[in-house]
Amino acid sequence: MPEFIPVIKKHEIQRQILRIAETITTDYQGRELVLIGVLKGAFLFLADLARELKLEKVKIDFLQASSYGADTVSSENIVMKKDIDVDIRGKDVLVVEDIVDTGLTLAYLINHLKRYGPRSIKVCAMIDKSERRKAAIKVDYACTTVENGFLVGYGLDYAEDYRNLPEIYHMKL
Ligand code: IMP
Repeated sequence: MPEFIPVIKKHEIQRQILRIAETITTDYQGRELVLIGVLKGAFLFLADLARELKLEKVKIDFLQASSYGADTVSSENIVMKKDIDVDIRGKDVLVVEDIVDTGLTLAYLINHLKRYGPRSIKVCAMIDKSERRKAAIKVDYACTTVENGFLVGYGLDYAEDYRNLPEIYHMKL
């Protein structure tokens, strides 16, 4: 049986979301922002973050790249599963990720989005997991940083389970 050790409590997640939402609200004041959530893991984070942004015009879209599957080791072989529908040409884009680990997924997605000619692209992540970073990715807004460990809950899965947990746990197999 895996062991689940709580690492980020529900109220702390909400507190951190409020904190970054305030910064994002200030940074994008008077501008049109397109939030692009990375499926599936970012669905709860994006939903909570979007509601706290005090901006007049916010568009929301999603994309999906290949994920961990049933493994806990990051894939270097990234495949695009779902692309965006919103036209981001000339727009300010904020990519919303659940967790950035090696950064390879994000590097791939950013390159992909750049081809649509956005005005700017920044990255917002619920968790910035730094130890295994391979791509030179800047996380512009992060709720929290962790060094290592496999996390589940609040959108994060292990083999598609545990996404519904309201807080974040370190899962030990
Ligand atoms: P990266 O390409 O190594 O940065 O991996 C990014 C993706 O791997 C994330 O969007 C997650 O879907 C998944 N991932 C990375 N670390 C974890 C984790 O600790 N728990 C669950 N999923 C993870």
